[in-house]
Amino acid sequence: MTSNISKFSFPTTIYFGAGALDNLPDYIQDLKIQKPLIVTDPGMLDTDVFPKVEKVLKDAGIQYSIFSKVNPNPLDSDISKAVEVFQQTGCNGLIGFGGGSALDASKMVQVIAAHGGMVNDYDISTGGNQNIKGPLVPMIAIPTTAGTGSEVGSCSVITSVEQGRKFLVCSPLLIPSIAILDPELTTGLPASLTAGTGMDAFTHCIEALTVKQLHPMCDAIALKGIEFVAKYLETAVKSPNNIEARGYMQLAAMMGAVAFQKDLGAAHSLSHSLSAVCHVPHGLANAICIIPVMKFNKETCLKEYAKVAACLGINTFGMSDNEAAEKAIEAVTDLNRGIGIPEKLSAVGVKKEHLEELATKAFLDGCHQTNARKCSKEDLMNLYKEVF
Ligand SMILES: [Fe+2]
Repeated sequence: MTSNISKFSFPTTIYFGAGALDNLPDYIQDLKIQKPLIVTDPGMLDTDVFPKVEKVLKDAGIQYSIFSKVNPNPLDSDISKAVEVFQQTGCNGLIGFGGGSALDASKMVQVIAAHGGMVNDYDISTGGNQNIKGPLVPMIAIPTTAGTGSEVGSCSVITSVEQGRKFLVCSPLLIPSIAILDPELTTGLPASLTAGTGMDAFTHCIEALTVKQLHPMCDAIALKGIEFVAKYLETAVKSPNNIEARGYMQLAAMMGAVAFQKDLGAAHSLSHSLSAVCHVPHGLANAICIIPVMKFNKETCLKEYAKVAACLGINTFGMSDNEAAEKAIEAVTDLNRGIGIPEKLSAVGVKKEHLEELATKAFLDGCHQTNARKCSKEDLMNLYKEVF
């Protein structure tokens, strides 16, 4: 392929709106699923929303099985166990129900059910993902958070128990057939989780926008996602039952994930390392780290950040790109403050003695390689120090 050719695609069918879950039986029928396996995590069983799914299925006379043992960072052993349930109970389709972990696990059940083996056989870093061939069993993704956007993504992140590390598996075949975005499923999310996952969605949009690869569709989607987060995240945090705000945050999360088909940037490398070393939740880590990363990238991204400023509601008329970019960074800092995100890593359990390991692991992470501005390990260390 010549180097000036870009590749992009847009496949998931999305049903969006309060009450969309009620139509689940129709979507199951559309995909010719006779018996779905619901893949979820144990915490979901105790929520108000899980019984809703069961009721909808029971009322429609649809038989189903449940696998509810997905770990917060899904393990390859979770996938093997889920595949066993899938095969032994005669299922022929999947419903991923929950946060990113449940959706990622469900995606890998599709692969292992079709091809066998273990998750690391499909690791993208060794080209194993090329072994994923279609067709896989159909999957419906029902997110109950608004952040990862895994419901429209082509990747799954799974931890290998034996090797003690995370594997990224990506293939267009992993993109769910249908995503149901029902904001009523997210009203029970606590404020801190709403804030963190919402800022994950925001970080996806910002980082995708500034990746240098050409993808004008993703850029437009990222800007609209930023606008939705700026307009609705604080309301979703402070008025959890506000369906309009919850709905727009679900859209923003989905749009962030569509946009990051382009790739991500340094905030995600910093954040992946913070989660691995200090167990800081992914969204919270991104929320803190996106500020120094925006400052670091500013000179390289003046035009993009000037557009971001307008999406954040700033009247940029008459401003230079530099002024608008400065205002954008200030506005993101204010947004964090308004939703209760701490400014410093020391406030979320990070200690000085963690910094060296954090920077080493962040540098090994692939996301910063597509950051708008090239990063050395020292740069990453300085970014941590700036918000330590
Ligand atoms: Fe993320």
